[in-house]
Amino acid sequence: MRKPIIAGNWKCHLTLQEASALIAGLKDSCDTDAVEVVVCPPFTALATAAQSLKGSRIRLGAQDVFWEPHGAFTGEISPTMLVDVGCRYVVVGHSERRTHFGESDQSVQRKLLAALKYALVPIVCIGETLAERDANLTFNVLTRQLEGALGTLSTDEVRRLILAYEPVWAIGTGRNASPGQAQEAHAFIRKWLATRWGLEAGDAVRIQYGGSVNAANAAGLLQQPDVDGALVGGASLSAEAFAAIVRAAVEAPSKAITR
Ligand code: PGA
Repeated sequence: MRKPIIAGNWKCHLTLQEASALIAGLKDSCDTDAVEVVVCPPFTALATAAQSLKGSRIRLGAQDVFWEPHGAFTGEISPTMLVDVGCRYVVVGHSERRTHFGESDQSVQRKLLAALKYALVPIVCIGETLAERDANLTFNVLTRQLEGALGTLSTDEVRRLILAYEPVWAIGTGRNASPGQAQEAHAFIRKWLATRWGLEAGDAVRIQYGGSVNAANAAGLLQQPDVDGALVGGASLSAEAFAAIVRAAVEAPSKAITR
């Protein structure tokens, strides 16, 4: 079985006080064994969040990471620092980092390798823009991003990561991919993984969908056979909405590994 994973990407939001309040709400509503629940606060709130999460099964992740463990890299946060503060996951290659901060497939690969080296679970984001989708380039873009980020990994490394298919046109727009569009992309990604690292590895990797997931559309998306969870932005800032998405994952049919 691929255990569903719902992760909240808080982006550049929430003070320490707000973060603690949100986590208190999530502890009441999202503390479950059936789903891996992860919150990714901004760097400034990680230590507070780690404290607030004590005694719950909700796990901590960061939104980005640098690839060196330490050194003269002003402004960067290293994988060892994230481990030290209590993170187990890290988002890598989010489209906002690619678009606004010049993240390339090559830097995504370096970050991903660093995360794996220091035993963080990387959540690697890929996805096409609307222009690319309209030009029928979705699969070409996904292939390029997958190849660029994952190309050199061993089978063991691939099995440890999580992919997030996040079409850029769906992020923060209120326009989610339809369940059919998400399933089509996820099936393509899984097939690509299987062709590269074998059927077993392809079956084992969890692929989240991200882009305007909310309480109303989560169930339809999570019912798709290759959609193993969600990376949630806006709706993760409300305990109520996030809890509804976690519940949809609990209720979705389990994702059996068929082969
Ligand atoms: P959204 O963001 O849910 O607000 O669309 C998703 C993401 O950026 O991970």
